Amino acid sequence: MKTEVAIIGAGPSGLLLGQLLTNAGIDNVILERRSGAYVLSRIRAGVLEQGTVDLLREAGVADNLDANGLIHDGFEIAFNGDRVRIDLEGLTGGKHVTVYGQTAVTEDLMNARRAAGATTYYEAEDVTPHDVTTDAPYVSFTHEGTAYRLDCAYIAGCDGFHGVSRRSIPAERLNTFSREYPLGWLGVMSETPPVAEELIYATHERGFAMCSMRSPTRSRYYIQVAADESPDNWSDEAFWAELKQRLPADVAGQLVTGPSIEKSVAPLHSFVAEPMQYGRMLLLGDAAHIVPPTGAKGLNLAVSDVNTAYRVFRQIYDHSRPEALNAYSATCLSRIWKTERFSWWMTSNLHKFSDTPDFNSRMQRAEISYYLDSKAGRATIAENYVGLPFAALPAA
Ligand code: APR
Ligand code: PHB
Repeated sequence: MKTEVAIIGAGPSGLLLGQLLTNAGIDNVILERRSGAYVLSRIRAGVLEQGTVDLLREAGVADNLDANGLIHDGFEIAFNGDRVRIDLEGLTGGKHVTVYGQTAVTEDLMNARRAAGATTYYEAEDVTPHDVTTDAPYVSFTHEGTAYRLDCAYIAGCDGFHGVSRRSIPAERLNTFSREYPLGWLGVMSETPPVAEELIYATHERGFAMCSMRSPTRSRYYIQVAADESPDNWSDEAFWAELKQRLPADVAGQLVTGPSIEKSVAPLHSFVAEPMQYGRMLLLGDAAHIVPPTGAKGLNLAVSDVNTAYRVFRQIYDHSRPEALNAYSATCLSRIWKTERFSWWMTSNLHKFSDTPDFNSRMQRAEISYYLDSKAGRATIAENYVGLPFAALPAA
């Protein structure tokens, strides 16, 4: 079997890159370890930056998003008993975010790929990249008991944090940077109307909480828990009671509770691998970097990598500039580190890390009240929340 770009992983990174390449006439095959149903069962964040929405539109997969996405021109931070609004539109000269679940983005992309007739192998086993530092790389895999070899010109490693692509790079060729936070987010989805029109990030002496949504009838809530907490330890009643305690009283009074339709714990982790290129293989999305969920940057960062990789492939295929590949990693990383910074800052300052007041907890308080009291501080939060501009490739 032969293609131009072998894409490993059918999460949002792999599917969006595949769609853009297919539209541009660049042949690609996706190899995914799981079934399509499993991929769609994963619940992830739901806040899209404008650049993400624009690229989904460019890929022609934004009909549902445009019909059902909720435009948010502000969000709130609850701090010290106050609710402070970050006026995204006013502070950024008219920008906003769109609330639309990552699961829905993935489903739209899957449907578009099926309609385009592009090839995807779900439940592909033992996917392994080979000879990536030569001019003739290939990927081997097994599907329904048959072994295959997929020859290609390039490999896109879109296989998430636990994927094979990054792990296939020799350790001495990769630098990794990591921070584990000693906490997790317990998330609950429910068929209840959201407690407020805008998202609320709430600091509290019992721990952080946040209020999000998927639609006018579906809510998503989170509370900070220990990193190793099991969702089985939390009945719905216990979750709602704890959430109410952590929200400002007027918000808690408005909360409509109901049975959970999903409940899970996500660990909080920052991670970056450098460089994001090894020979003819690129790393995209979670394969190269992880952010904690505070600020909802994971999907948006993956999409900005896809944007860069797609522009690189257009340079290569439309303008015969194979050297464009070498600009990929540095172009991505400058924006990634700034987004890592914002996610780390939000995480470090909004959560509770210690049971007794200490220097760090006083600094958190000073940091948040300084930023929220200052228009420049709120503008800094706003410009990061709506998303920093996508980085352009260096001029040819
Ligand atoms: N072979 C083939 N596929 C694999 C392999 C493998 N060895 N390992 C992992 N995969 C698949 C996974 O099953 C998954 O479907 O790669 C896909 C990676 O998808 P994601 O983890 O969703 O990563 P990405 O597409 O980069 O999306 C980033 O998703 O994980 C969230 O927070 C993250 O929002 C961000 C976004
Ligand atoms: C979500 O809707 O799941 C969500 C929203 C904002 C975040 C994280 C998650 O910062």
